[in-house]
Amino acid sequence: MATSENLQTLTPHIIFTSDWSIGSTTERTGGGVWSTAVLLTHYFLSHPTTFNRALSNKNALELGSGNGYLSVVLGSVVKDVNIVCTDTPEHLGLMNKTLDDNCKILENPDRTINVKSLMWGEDNLNEKFDFIFGTDVVYRDFLYHPFLTCLTHHLSKNGTALVGICMTDTTKEFFPICKSYGFRYQRVGDEKGCDGMRGVTFGLFVIEWKV
Ligand SMILES: C[S@@+](CC[C@H](N)C(=O)[O-])C[C@H]1O[C@@H](n2cnc3c(N)ncnc32)[C@H](O)[C@@H]1O
Repeated sequence: MATSENLQTLTPHIIFTSDWSIGSTTERTGGGVWSTAVLLTHYFLSHPTTFNRALSNKNALELGSGNGYLSVVLGSVVKDVNIVCTDTPEHLGLMNKTLDDNCKILENPDRTINVKSLMWGEDNLNEKFDFIFGTDVVYRDFLYHPFLTCLTHHLSKNGTALVGICMTDTTKEFFPICKSYGFRYQRVGDEKGCDGMRGVTFGLFVIEWKV
């Protein structure tokens, strides 16, 4: 996971407080920022033009946010994207706190970030999204099917998901299962030779519907 010093250097404009006491007693994972969230933060911050072109006035969904940090990062990069930031019910307090603490940098009245509870595979927001993002989310094999079911419910036909995956937690079985749901995937950096995103044990993956 990321240290508060990492985040301070990376996003000095964002106020973030971790709280590892939240979550179920067996899996307290959502109270801090994990490694692929740092990777996606780098990616958002280093491609502002691309993300503004792609997401202006579009709807985005964060899955397994835990803490709201990444939605604030995206909201600070793209001023008029509408974001729904989600996790299990016990995380809503921390997510709302992160958004409240950063209301000054999220000042654009045209852009909204809404916090909602969303249990993968169980809940359906009955809304399709142009962009879905989530980091360190498929970290247990029993989460693969619920997570992919959630993607099928919410990813629009031409939408794009950007998922941060840590290879020490996610087994290679995830990828054929992903294909079996009708998705294709590509690791970010494989096609561009993007430094810092290849040859490491974690990465960002673009997941889209197969055409
Ligand atoms: C390792 S944490 C990652 C948190 C954050 N995305 C990050 O990268 O810093 C995994 C998150 O997935 C959430 N999660 C796990 N199982 C879930 C499920 N079935 N439905 C919704 N969220 C879930 C957890 O509550 C937790 O916040």
